[in-house]
Amino acid sequence: MKRTHTCGELRASDVGETIRICGWVDTVRDHGGILFIDLRDRYGLTQVVCDPDDSAEAAEAAKQTRPEYVIQVEGLVRARPADMVNERLPTGEIEVVGATLTILNRSKTPPFPLEEDKAAKVHEELRLESRYLDLRRASMQERLRLRHKMAIAVRKYMDEQEFIEVETPILTKSTPEGARDYLVPNRVTPGTFYALPQAPQQYKQLLMVGGMDRYFQMARCFRDEDLRADRQPEFTQIDVEMSFVDAEDLYGVVDGLLADVMEASGHPRPELPLPRMTWHEAMDRFGSDKPDLRYGWELTDLKNVFEGTAFKVFGSILSKGGVVKAINAKGLAGVPIRQIDEWTELAKTFGMGGLAYIRVQEGGNWKSPIVKFFSEEEQGNLKETLEIEEGDLVLFAASADALSVNEFLGRLRVECAQQAGIIPEHEFRFTWVTEFPLFETNEAGRLVPMHHPFTSPLPEDESMLDSDPAHARAIAYDIVLNGVELGSGSIRIHDPGLQGRMFDLLKISEEEKQSRFGHLLNALAYGAPPHGGIALGFDRLALLMAGGDTIRDVIAFPKNHKGIDLMMEAPSPVDAKQLHDVHIQLDLPPVE
Ligand code: AMO
Ligand code: AMP
Repeated sequence: MKRTHTCGELRASDVGETIRICGWVDTVRDHGGILFIDLRDRYGLTQVVCDPDDSAEAAEAAKQTRPEYVIQVEGLVRARPADMVNERLPTGEIEVVGATLTILNRSKTPPFPLEEDKAAKVHEELRLESRYLDLRRASMQERLRLRHKMAIAVRKYMDEQEFIEVETPILTKSTPEGARDYLVPNRVTPGTFYALPQAPQQYKQLLMVGGMDRYFQMARCFRDEDLRADRQPEFTQIDVEMSFVDAEDLYGVVDGLLADVMEASGHPRPELPLPRMTWHEAMDRFGSDKPDLRYGWELTDLKNVFEGTAFKVFGSILSKGGVVKAINAKGLAGVPIRQIDEWTELAKTFGMGGLAYIRVQEGGNWKSPIVKFFSEEEQGNLKETLEIEEGDLVLFAASADALSVNEFLGRLRVECAQQAGIIPEHEFRFTWVTEFPLFETNEAGRLVPMHHPFTSPLPEDESMLDSDPAHARAIAYDIVLNGVELGSGSIRIHDPGLQGRMFDLLKISEEEKQSRFGHLLNALAYGAPPHGGIALGFDRLALLMAGGDTIRDVIAFPKNHKGIDLMMEAPSPVDAKQLHDVHIQLDLPPVE
């Protein structure tokens, strides 16, 4: 046996035992010829003392060790003197007196320090290049352990709820989740390609047609899209689909799942059912379909204050049926003008004519380019409506387009809250956002599905598909935690006629309908049960449970913001023979 104990295991009750431990040298200190080694593994740290008076051989070997050497130590567990007990270490009451020390492997000096506080200051790219070293840090090990615990909790809960985990293909066909596909060339038939799944959306619906009733999968998904702090080109979903259900049944299943995951992650169980609001309410109050409920600063409609105002900008917009809204960013009156200028530029990108504001100075004086246009009554009403006090920064947006006003102020609300540092970091505030619109208009002015083309309209809005599709609502929902979209789902269309009509509305040609979705339309025609589902971003959930800066912190081997695995150096050129095999000719010679 190489070891009898791990480095996190020994306690006062083990004193007097002869043991063997293995691990990495965390630190070596030489105190007048007596060497103190902190030996580290995944389980903890144990202090080893090598004194030439106890074992000249072990002390000599200890002198040869350097940080990150892998060693094996055999020796006696001894109580530390009372004044040397380290309360912060679970093994802090004991030390191991080295009788034999064997160097199992040497290590070059790591390219960056592995101590937590120092590693935190190292450029992330350097850590990613040698991720195997980065993973030795306690914080990385703890996050991956937590992720594992979460996955176990998910599988246990889903199993208890009669869901079965089914694996679906990775080599598949293009799916319409909205990003670009990763393509895999097919050697057998030149010019044909597999696509890696953006999500197992169609497979899970087909599993329902196949009578599986309740499916889930820890599913790997692949999307070629612009990366952000909370996006990876490959990621994991807790993918769920159920037959014979309403949205209500899904909320129930996911509520219970999230409560179990919270508990498995060491957080208090949230009160169930998790709160809900419609998409319309979320946009109206928070200017976002993923509202962060950990703080207030809601968007306030000022129609009642400014109806008939002499201030032309607001008056004319209101008289044409537009909206004037504001947020009160408490305590931010002191933001530099430069910041307000930046936000004014942002306002323009949302189609606003400008950004009106009030900074409430010490003594309650309103500093603003526009208040001079407000009547006393308007000022009084404004003060009351927005509860304006000294130190506040009030930001206004006005436009004929209510959605732009909401989206712009929603963005400001988050930025202001971040700047003011008012967001309570250890709180967890979930909300469902329900009744999403069925469609949105893309840049080309075309209707595209807000979720995906298999999403069912709300029954009461089905008649609007012909008359006013842009305003039809869907049985589509997101689950949101602390301003992050955790998951998204919908009740699906199970009627082939309605599904065909959806494709028509989306201007998908008959030919494309058959080539891309023929299998699904066929399957729906063979007794598809009513069904619906959801997919939760597991990496995002892990990040929220574990804490960390980016989604990369909860992924063992993530890609950087350009989609590159810096450690493996993937993607990489392949040799000419490989290209030839898959019938691919490159225009440009591969870059070295
Ligand atoms: P959707 O595309 O909204 O829905 O994805 C569901 C959830 O997956 C997570 N997610 C991501 N996480 C990390 N990196 C990414 N690039 C990334 N993209 C998405 C998010 C998101 O909420 N098939 C549908 C679900 C359904 O209808 O059942 C789907 O995939 O947390
Ligand atoms: P103007 O009359 O265009 O000079 O605008 C007067 C003030 O109203 C300026 O401070 C503008 O930034 C602001 N303003 C103009 N249009 C809007 C708008 N759509 N929403 C909010 N503020 C605006």
